Amino acid sequence: MIKKLCLTNFKNFKHAELELARFSVLVGTNASGKSNLRDAFRFIHGISRGYTLAEIIGAKYIEGGVLQWSGLRGGTRELVFDSGSTFELKIGLAAASYEIAVDVGSNGKPPRVLQERLTGPGGYIFDSHPPDDPPDQEHNPRYVFVRLPRGGQNRKLGKRLRFASNQPVLTQIVESGDAAKGVIAAAKSLISELQSMRFLDLAPDAMRRPSLPGQNILGDQGDNLSSVLQAICADDHTKAAVINWIKDLTPLDVTDFEFVPDQTGKILAFMVESGGRKTSAYSASDGTLRFLAMIAALLGPEPAQFYFFEELENGIHPTRLALLLQLIEQKTAKGPIQIVATSHSPQLLALLSPDARNSASLVYRLEGRPDAGICQITEIPEAKRVLEDNDLARLHSSGWLENAVEFTRPDVPSHPGEIGA
Ligand SMILES: Nc1ncnc2c1ncn2[C@@H]1O[C@H](COP(=O)(O)OP(=O)(O)OP(=O)(O)O)[C@@H](O)[C@H]1O
Ligand SMILES: [Mg+2]
Repeated sequence: MIKKLCLTNFKNFKHAELELARFSVLVGTNASGKSNLRDAFRFIHGISRGYTLAEIIGAKYIEGGVLQWSGLRGGTRELVFDSGSTFELKIGLAAASYEIAVDVGSNGKPPRVLQERLTGPGGYIFDSHPPDDPPDQEHNPRYVFVRLPRGGQNRKLGKRLRFASNQPVLTQIVESGDAAKGVIAAAKSLISELQSMRFLDLAPDAMRRPSLPGQNILGDQGDNLSSVLQAICADDHTKAAVINWIKDLTPLDVTDFEFVPDQTGKILAFMVESGGRKTSAYSASDGTLRFLAMIAALLGPEPAQFYFFEELENGIHPTRLALLLQLIEQKTAKGPIQIVATSHSPQLLALLSPDARNSASLVYRLEGRPDAGICQITEIPEAKRVLEDNDLARLHSSGWLENAVEFTRPDVPSHPGEIGA
């Protein structure tokens, strides 16, 4: 589970830290930086796919010109705060932390790794800049050198390994014949955790498209919805649970699902209502499809460990939103699924359980400051009281939370913390 994300000079964050729980809601006005946080998580996920930095930031095409990965919004020119050239990201996990500093390149130069470090419970596992390491004499920007610890009690400097600087060391070191087994195992374990991240940005058209049985992973836009639902419904118990959630979350009195194949073998999901009326994914409402897709993501046969949901309340009636939040909280409570969800609506905070509310963060920009900040909602004293009183009208009034931050924490944000410090 990702417990913390630290950003330095990334997009509109100069220095910011985001604390995460199993379910973390991010609220903030337009252009506050919520999707920039998504970009940061996508960057980290892109690393785990074994891509070069140029591919992570730009795009990755496979044979036949098929787009496998769409890069980060704004490319290299807009990735760094205030048109600078380097940024740093650090993630804290249960038993490890990983940080990387990147020079995005300018004047036609490719992006490259400046510094990188993987740390475990006993100290660094590999580190480009360990303490006491003499600086590299023959500095060549095409390479990045990392040290392995020598092991033993005093953890002296061990082997120095050389890697190409155009790709994170994390995914190169697992192929290295010179790294110890323990180092490779630690890198592989982090890579596999980061690979299991999904970024849902649901699009009704994609959810309506028929899909082949066996396509059991929900695409980022909700592609394969019909076949994922079919896989879920193969288990009677889970099927009953899905039907119950659909009944609760939509006005439809669904009693069953049917999966009808077309001429090409692709199937389309139909919801059967108590009177026998059947509604296909083609004509189901956008909101219903969103529910189905979120349910498919959470209850599907191959759930990811980490989901980023954009604009949770989008297309969902407020009376149903509480139920959706309940489903998410229930699914995330025991793990292993972790969810980060963005919302424009401070009203949503009032619908969260006290636990989920404690993990919610506000992404904000203070007037007169170019950078954005992140703070936990519960750090805003007045907000806690307002939420406890369920004073929705007050929370809902525009900019209330941001104003509360402005008045209570005049000098935020400031979380300096250079990599290697
Ligand atoms: N490199 C950068 N330096 C400074 N600011 C940047 C940079 N890149 C993006 N931004 C700022 O980030 C803003 C966009 O942030 P983001 O897309 O995360 O907003 P959001 O909170 O998701 O908003 P919405 O709710 O509208 O989707 C831009 O308006 C811009 O001001
Ligand atoms: Mg956004």
